[in-house]
Amino acid sequence: MTGTTRLSVRGHLPEGYLADALRRDAELGLTAHPKRLPPKWFYDARGSRLFEEITKLPEYYPTRAEREILRRNALDIAESLPAHTLVELGSGSSEKTRLLLDALRAVGSLERYVPVDVSAPALVEAGESLLRDYPDLTVEAVVSDFDAHLGIPEEPGPKLVAFLGGTIGNLTPDQRGVFLAAVRSQLRAGDGLLLGADLVKDPDVLVRAYDDAQGVTAEFNRNVLHVLNRELDGDFVPERFEHVAVWDSDDEWIEMRLRSLGDQTVKLGGLDLVAEFADGEEMRTEISAKFRASGLAMELERAGFAVARWWTDPENRFGLALAIPV
Ligand code: SAH
Ligand code: AVI
Repeated sequence: MTGTTRLSVRGHLPEGYLADALRRDAELGLTAHPKRLPPKWFYDARGSRLFEEITKLPEYYPTRAEREILRRNALDIAESLPAHTLVELGSGSSEKTRLLLDALRAVGSLERYVPVDVSAPALVEAGESLLRDYPDLTVEAVVSDFDAHLGIPEEPGPKLVAFLGGTIGNLTPDQRGVFLAAVRSQLRAGDGLLLGADLVKDPDVLVRAYDDAQGVTAEFNRNVLHVLNRELDGDFVPERFEHVAVWDSDDEWIEMRLRSLGDQTVKLGGLDLVAEFADGEEMRTEISAKFRASGLAMELERAGFAVARWWTDPENRFGLALAIPV
């Protein structure tokens, strides 16, 4: 418990799980060809703050577009699914979630909010801020890794599971299949999944959103190297890696990479690993898939959902699906 009895932060993962997962991901990723790291390791306290800065950049439209959808439709969502429990996976700052909390309170159904995130600092900061502004809200935060254990609690329904921000796009198509099926297996009749997805659009707009003029996304991208240095006794010099964002038109995703500026050798003392980077070698750090309504509906159907409602922002940049178990 932190400070007040209405905010609890509990770990859903076995002791040492995250440390082991980081070791495994770094070892596998840095010895793979091409090298790669999964995006979940961006989000230590600094990475979570950098992501929040990204959401305010003029080029990064997804947060504003999704907020606009929620501003216009949160009451409709709450009336369609008057949840007692709002679970949010990858909740981060929970900032847009306030619109859902307000709507679920307005229809009189909300009993508790369960933010779930791999980043404990983000959960604590968001939880404390919510309690200041929502004095009667019960917040039961869960530290979990949705790649492994969802962390959705067995609470009395109806339950609405929100997965916002387009984070679904940070999973590969295979990972998305596993993830959606796992969410489906934890829902019953009367529950729902509220899924935010960024939509395919002009590649120039997309690339600018992931390569902003101020270089905040570049710093966010390089943050994973700071995390490896701290957690695994590494000696990456982050400035010796250049941020790269490219649109892959076959897969319809943005790929973020770190490109080595020169030949370099990096040691990770905590892993007893030496990684050689050739000049210009690129390591993939994130995919951010963009969706079409029909493709997303198909993926949801394959996992045992039906799309009950679909909203977009007025400029059709971002979509929000309310999916129900069938
Ligand atoms: N939903 C928020 C935050 C999106 S940023 C928004 O829409 O703005 C992505 C969030 O997902 C971060 O807070 C990050 O810590 C979390 N995250 C990333 N990978 C995760 C994983 N495997 N398990 C749990 N949380 C994860
Ligand atoms: C969290 N996720 C949806 C963000 C995205 O747009 O893929 C992460 C991000 N990466 C670069 N900028 C933002």
